[in-house]
Amino acid sequence: MAKSATIEIDGQKFEFPIITGTENEVAIDISSLRSATKGIITLDAGYKNTGSCKSKITFLDGENGILRYRGYSIEELAEKASFLEVAYLLIFGDLPTQEQYEKFYNDIKSYSVVDDDVRKIVDAFPKSAHPMGIVSSLTSALTAFNPSSVNVNSEQEAYKAIVRIIGKFPVLVAWTFRKKHGLPLDYGDKNLGYVENVLKMMFKQPNEDYVQNDVIVDALNKLLILHADHEQNCSTSTVRITGSSHAGLFVSLSAGISALWGPLHGGANQAVLEMLEAIKEDGGDTKKYMAKAKDKDDPFRLMGFGHRVYKNFDPRARIIKKAADEVLDDLGIDDPILDIAKGLEKEALEDQYFVDRKLYPNVDFYSGIIYRALGIPTDMFTVMFALGRLPGWIAQWFEMRLNKEPIGRPRQLYVGETARPFVPIEKR
Ligand code: SDX
Repeated sequence: MAKSATIEIDGQKFEFPIITGTENEVAIDISSLRSATKGIITLDAGYKNTGSCKSKITFLDGENGILRYRGYSIEELAEKASFLEVAYLLIFGDLPTQEQYEKFYNDIKSYSVVDDDVRKIVDAFPKSAHPMGIVSSLTSALTAFNPSSVNVNSEQEAYKAIVRIIGKFPVLVAWTFRKKHGLPLDYGDKNLGYVENVLKMMFKQPNEDYVQNDVIVDALNKLLILHADHEQNCSTSTVRITGSSHAGLFVSLSAGISALWGPLHGGANQAVLEMLEAIKEDGGDTKKYMAKAKDKDDPFRLMGFGHRVYKNFDPRARIIKKAADEVLDDLGIDDPILDIAKGLEKEALEDQYFVDRKLYPNVDFYSGIIYRALGIPTDMFTVMFALGRLPGWIAQWFEMRLNKEPIGRPRQLYVGETARPFVPIEKR
């Protein structure tokens, strides 16, 4: 591979270093471009060709459908790890020993109570409020109750901030769910495992014991792992750029939750279920929706399909599709929506429009079918995505701060009006 790239402009040549990553990805370092060329910049809407940082956390190979967290394959982690092990791996860089794992979870549990005044904020929301808006607000509000900003250079303070948010966030998720369903806010049981306690905090009915179902626990553990990180996606980039101004961890996470809410991003898992339900109501007429998805005059997109990076298959979608079959079978659920989803996938994979554009099912296409089988309502799907993505966002935020990255501030190409004099209103 060449050591540098040359750009020639009006006969003048400019050299820029070529750098290669540990997985042989290649980048041209253009950090000196504007100064060397006295003002010329690049333009790349949506950053489709532009790397924002160097990172050691997650590796994606979109052509070959590879996803690894700190070098471990998503397939192995989804099959063999617990969600908290993966959270530890993403944040601290290695899988924990038994002793490290136990300390991590015990420290998380010691912070898994939120200030009781948070209940007043939860109560202030109407039942009609979307859970993502509530969770984003509550996450930002945590700053009011834990005002000290994170001294990232203090390992102890950074660790405390990490276990604090990992302990409190599931409570915010559970309270958001319970508020909408008229259930008293609950803390679950700190003697349970992390995933088990999330389920109990969410679903325990006030007048009966909550009975754990291992199939549901395993399925949620797997889903949270599959969502835990995904390099520089929209919401993670939002967390990094928000934190680059040295805004606090909680408000950076709140910004990430808001970005994730969009239907083109994490909000797609809710949109997929709504789309599949609409197709079911339409008598299963998948062809009508395929035509809408291909019609340039129709804003409708086949939700859960396509990906900025994966151009062959999303490895997470493959794992989730297999798990959907297993979970519904184990729970004895016959959900016609799963058959509609499979039929839609088969049609799309044989359709030239989708083949030409390398559009395949992504992580959001099948995940909602499992969430629904676990008893999670559609408008909570993206909140569950956020619960899974939390450790990834934390890991990426700390990597950005510890690398002392500069404040994120892209340039632009101005194409507006050139200079013109002010005209008094009476003369306009
Ligand atoms: C997530 O980045 C990540 O890593 C995200 C994520 C993560 O873990 O963080 O993986 C999670 O966000 C998954 C994506 C969930 N979103 C959806 O399922 C929404 C539907 N998908 C699309 O909106 C779209 O595919 C995106 C947003 C996912 C990707 O968009 P790109 O890369 O900007 O591609 P594009 O919009 O430029 O589309 C290229 C072409 C266009 O057609 P042409 O103009 O070339 O003719 O493909 C078409 C698009 O119209 N297209 C689709 C389509 N997705 C792309 N057409 C119909 N249905 C679709 N779903």
